[in-house]
Amino acid sequence: MSALPEFSFAKQAKATKGVLVIPVLEDAALAPIAKELEIDVDTGRAATAANFTGKARQSMAMLAPAGSKLDKLVFFGLGKTDDFSEITFRKFGGALAGKQGKASNILVDFGFAGDDETIGAPHLAAFAQGWYLRSYAFKKYKTKKKDDEKPKSSKVQIVGANAMDAKKHWASDQGVADGVLLARDLVNEPANALGPVEFAEIASDLTKLGVEVEVLGEKEMEKLGMGALLGVAQGSVRPPRMAIMKWNGGATKDQPVAFVGKGVVFDTGGISIKPSGGMEDMKGDMGGAAAVTGLMHALASRKAKCNVVGIIGLVENMPDGNAQRPGDIVTSMSGQTIEIINTDAEGRLVLADALWYCKETFKPKFMINLATLTGAILVALGSHHAGIFSNNDELAEKLTGAGKSSDEKVWRLPLGVEYDKMIDSKFADMKNTGGRWAGSITAAQFLQRYVDDVPWVHIDVAGTAMSSPSTDINTSWGSGFGVRLLDQLVRDHYES
Ligand code: BES
Ligand code: MN
Ligand code: ZN
Repeated sequence: MSALPEFSFAKQAKATKGVLVIPVLEDAALAPIAKELEIDVDTGRAATAANFTGKARQSMAMLAPAGSKLDKLVFFGLGKTDDFSEITFRKFGGALAGKQGKASNILVDFGFAGDDETIGAPHLAAFAQGWYLRSYAFKKYKTKKKDDEKPKSSKVQIVGANAMDAKKHWASDQGVADGVLLARDLVNEPANALGPVEFAEIASDLTKLGVEVEVLGEKEMEKLGMGALLGVAQGSVRPPRMAIMKWNGGATKDQPVAFVGKGVVFDTGGISIKPSGGMEDMKGDMGGAAAVTGLMHALASRKAKCNVVGIIGLVENMPDGNAQRPGDIVTSMSGQTIEIINTDAEGRLVLADALWYCKETFKPKFMINLATLTGAILVALGSHHAGIFSNNDELAEKLTGAGKSSDEKVWRLPLGVEYDKMIDSKFADMKNTGGRWAGSITAAQFLQRYVDDVPWVHIDVAGTAMSSPSTDINTSWGSGFGVRLLDQLVRDHYES
């Protein structure tokens, strides 16, 4: 892992060395600030030369300003207070982190930009979170780092009226951010290093945070009749696992909420093998399971007051002599039979048993599953929204709201009997593909056959979990999408 910054918060502090960042509102007068800092610069001339007016995200740096021990003074534009939100502050933090290079001592003084009315503790903590998330890079396998590329950790001090409160908020936001980084690490890790067994071991490490973890092996899954999941796994020499993570932060008798993740550590397509171009990306086909694991980390580290179950189905989809064939019929744990039309539609098979197991074992308040399920969701939504499908308007709306406030956005697509019919099979209860059209919807219809009337949302994260464009708060291939979204949902609606 990259070197992550350490944050501290203060109500008042003076920068004595290193980098001083001064966030300012749009059209703020800079001269009085320079004067108060006893720095002898002509801010007017500098601002004109740099085209700096304090619009959101603009920045103007002065290197080793005369009359000061600072290495650098940076004015950073916050724009107008009307646009202030945790989202914009998270992005400000990320954008600034992207500019700091190897500076090891940084002070960001919000004291010139507002008071505790306009810049609250959650803003300051979100700022730190954005900075932290941006600082992540997956460099584990780079052995030839030059000295100047070696990660160096930095200390960032944030000054603002709400410092003491911000410190508390950050303690919890950092736990969430660490969950995001865990999910990114899992997605970035290559499949030769991260098989089902290794993944389950990492999930088991959450016991350190007070999460109860149980891991099912092949024999146990056979006993439970998980023929759909096992059919996928049988083509790999690496055995499957199912990890069940429980965080009991709520009242004892409170029904849990449940999150279920697709964890295909590598998806070759199986006998219906994928084309080789870009196949390496299929190491990320466990992005759903990574998000669930990261979420459990997040909820446990911030001690969420809620009972939560996380279940991940871990398999590898490979085409060996024992692999399942198109035309095979498997029996899922629910008893429903499935005709395999395309062995590359494997994620839904894994989830069918994971969802059924979840519903039967825990009788949850709701089930939300995350899966890199279909290429078709990329065609529909690209990388900027995850697709959601639901049998429950209220839950879908709550999730959409959490998407807006966390800035991990989701967009609802329809379900319906006409689509459901498309997966009826000639030989079995259903087939695992629905033909060329509406591929993301027929995949969701398949899952719906395994949830009964439990309120449920399926989130297709094929476009958002990996390979999405860099943003202010993420430059890594694996994004960790879903962790902040679902943490927000729990925070907003399910904590006592
Ligand atoms: N893991 C893939 C979906 C995927 C595609 C994820 C691109 C991330 C990026 C999934 O298992 C798959 O292969 N889906 C097929 C389904 C088809 C065979 C019905 C697809 O989308 O083509
Ligand atoms: Mn596939
Ligand atoms: Zn897949």
